[in-house]
Amino acid sequence: MTGEGANATLGVFLFLLCAAIFFILTTPLNRRKKLVASFDPGKPPARPAAKTEQLKIEKGQVELGSGVYWSPLGHPNPHVLIVGGSGSGKSWTIRLLAEKLLALGFHCVLFDFHGDLAVKGAATHRMALDSKYGVNQLAVSFDRTGGGPDPQRFEVLEQLRNAFKPMGVLQLALLDDCLKAIYRKFGVYQEDPRTWRQPVLPHLGDLEKELEARIRRDPKDLRARGLRTKLSLAFDFQIFSKPQVPDSLGANGSHPRKGLHVDLSKLPPQLQYLAADTLLKQIFRQRQLAGIQPTSSYVLIDESKLCTPAKKDSPLAALNRIATEGRKFGLGLIVSTQFIGHLGRDLVVNTFTKIVMGTDKTEIAATARKFRLEESMLQSLQHPGDALINFADSTEWKELHVGFPIADE
Ligand SMILES: Nc1ncnc2c1ncn2[C@@H]1O[C@H](COP(=O)(O)OP(=O)(O)O)[C@@H](O)[C@H]1O
Ligand SMILES: [Mg+2]
Repeated sequence: MTGEGANATLGVFLFLLCAAIFFILTTPLNRRKKLVASFDPGKPPARPAAKTEQLKIEKGQVELGSGVYWSPLGHPNPHVLIVGGSGSGKSWTIRLLAEKLLALGFHCVLFDFHGDLAVKGAATHRMALDSKYGVNQLAVSFDRTGGGPDPQRFEVLEQLRNAFKPMGVLQLALLDDCLKAIYRKFGVYQEDPRTWRQPVLPHLGDLEKELEARIRRDPKDLRARGLRTKLSLAFDFQIFSKPQVPDSLGANGSHPRKGLHVDLSKLPPQLQYLAADTLLKQIFRQRQLAGIQPTSSYVLIDESKLCTPAKKDSPLAALNRIATEGRKFGLGLIVSTQFIGHLGRDLVVNTFTKIVMGTDKTEIAATARKFRLEESMLQSLQHPGDALINFADSTEWKELHVGFPIADE
């Protein structure tokens, strides 16, 4: 290299060094990180948000995007399952479906564990320490053939056992005994269905009172003390001792056709499960009582893992019951989950419409196996809103981008 050539190279090098030092000194660290990240060649470009209001509703059918229609009444069952990784567009899709269902006149209850499901047309009820409304776990079913305080006691025992593990036989026996005593105190008797419709029903706060009364009577009663401590989270938040959220049941043909957004994001996971499971069971029960009818109500559950008990295949699990029997009683179910393994078999098998969105690399193989899909099809879902949809009467998976139109397509 000539002397001039070497000087020129040195000059360019010094210039670049000075530019780099200038960049480092003048750009704050956060902004520097962002600038560098935005040059990441591996990252797919962000898409403009899709506009849902341009999607059509035609003859009771909802356009999900690019000419793909879903029919809330027309398919053999109304249920929809959405599987996708974090950020793939599940919540967005659920909000879209809720908005369109509400516009079509369906009653919708949205279960929100992350606080991002508010939609136009649905009243928000946030359940928290300071909230006005709650859920009453001890409310009994009025069904003369399967309702009353005895089956309800069984439900509550099962729920509390699921939420506050481990619970031994002795603690369960004590809990059962207390619940029996409370129903008796309020004059609710299994053998007299007229007493099930009492204007004042017991709630979980009465269980705390019952335990405290037992502790006062015998301060050495360690079982009662232990149980009170174990359930203190449920007692302290008081959401199970407040008036029931209005319109939560969408009871029968005469219910107001509106939406309800139950925001459970401020509760700890045990209470999220208890509140959601109780409400889901109550909604199902009301529909059962109202009898066989066409679909008029939907429950929409985002991240359904948070309301699934450990035994996800149990026929008692609220989601499994709704998936297997909801259709008869006019109740549709729309659920999303990050991992297909979190859902019970009944739910997967009984869902006519399945939507798969982008999944994490580690989940691709399991998801592809479960849905009999090519792994490459899942790998092609790169952007939020990209999806594959299948209706159970066909083996075909259609490509779909949820929302419409997409400017760069
Ligand atoms: N259909 C879509 N079209 C365009 N962008 C979308 C779409 N769905 C989601 N997004 C974008 O992706 C982000 C994450 O979506 P979200 O529904 O919250 O994902 P998830 O619930 O699966 O974690 C949203 O904030 C939105 O900006
Ligand atoms: Mg989400």
